[in-house]
Amino acid sequence: MFSSVWSFIKRHKRKFIFTGVVVGGVYVLGKYAQKKMGEFQENEATEYIAQARRQFHFESNQRTCNMTVLSMLPPLKEAVVNQLNSESLTALLKAKPANKLEIWEDLKIISFTRTIVAVYSTCMLVVLLRVQLNIIGGYLYLDHSVGKSTATPLAPPEVQQQYLSSIQHLLGDGLIALMTVVKKAVQRSLGGVSLKQSLSLLELEQQLSWIRAEVEAEEERPMSWYMLADAEDALADQACGLTGNDLATIKLLNETRDMLDSPDFTTVLNVTLNRGFSRLLDDLAEFFRPPPGDSASCFAPDSLAAVSLPLAKIIPIVNGQINSICSETPSHFVQDLLMNDQVKEFAANVYETFSAPQELQK
Ligand SMILES: *[C@@H]1O[C@H](CO)[C@@H](O)[C@H](O)[C@H]1NC(C)=O
Ligand SMILES: *[C@@H]1O[C@H](CO)[C@@H](O)[C@H](O)[C@H]1NC(C)=O
Repeated sequence: MFSSVWSFIKRHKRKFIFTGVVVGGVYVLGKYAQKKMGEFQENEATEYIAQARRQFHFESNQRTCNMTVLSMLPPLKEAVVNQLNSESLTALLKAKPANKLEIWEDLKIISFTRTIVAVYSTCMLVVLLRVQLNIIGGYLYLDHSVGKSTATPLAPPEVQQQYLSSIQHLLGDGLIALMTVVKKAVQRSLGGVSLKQSLSLLELEQQLSWIRAEVEAEEERPMSWYMLADAEDALADQACGLTGNDLATIKLLNETRDMLDSPDFTTVLNVTLNRGFSRLLDDLAEFFRPPPGDSASCFAPDSLAAVSLPLAKIIPIVNGQINSICSETPSHFVQDLLMNDQVKEFAANVYETFSAPQELQK
């Protein structure tokens, strides 16, 4: 069933650096759909059974989505680290150069930028894939449901592949644009803070809030801008005329954009980001424990402000966070994001919308 996707990939190998994992996700989805189709043929489709299957199909789709997110974290991390390479600065520092202070200042900006970008992009990956896989999942459900002519699939394999490969924007141009904006905000907020200055966890949280406010306040660049390229850009290669499949992909991308611009999506992304950044602070808090035997209890409400560390000591701690944020083994960070009830509820709404037979009449 997906042989056409594979041969398409083979022909365009170099163009699809990141699609391997995405196609992996679709492949699993397709395998599942194939199995379901067999089951469908064995049974009478009563309304009740159809509902139950739709639900089952949905649950399976969410597992596919979680697996796809996890499989995309290593390439995401690689893309961030390639662009914001603090390791090369650390290596320079080991040689004790004359411009040591200057390099430390760079390291300060790069470390914070890459950790903040890692939180943003991981959160975006989670919600974007939820939207995309539930849109496509809804269509696949319709394509394989009883009574639907299989002669005219809504989402043929080539369209699925083309549509899902749009995730490359978040790992490419979208990511670069996000880095630029975050870096600017980090410079404004931490640029003037001396390496010797001590910060408490509470002050660190304040800094992160300022940076977030600045990044998210960009008027002419809504957050969806980092997640989805313009449809024209996404299909720029097909300049010599659009096929029926191209138009189907553009339609899917249009529907996705509408979804990303909806107030519900903004809320869900915000909730996810809140979760991500508070998880980051929890992880940083491990390093701000009062020394053992200190009379100030670790659990006192003001313990957040009790311990301060010089910024120069905080930098390596912040710098290392990307490893747990973008960890390929399910870390508590990404687990937290994937298990979020509001994200699940939103996913269910997207799926409900796109798997409803009324869509056919549109
Ligand atoms: C997609 O959206 C653009 C701009 O809103 C519109 O011009 C175009 O006709 C839409 N394409 C499809 C296939 O729906
Ligand atoms: C995002 O969430 C925070 C914390 O709940 C809230 O103060 C803020 O208004 C929200 N922003 C948007 C755009 O929903």
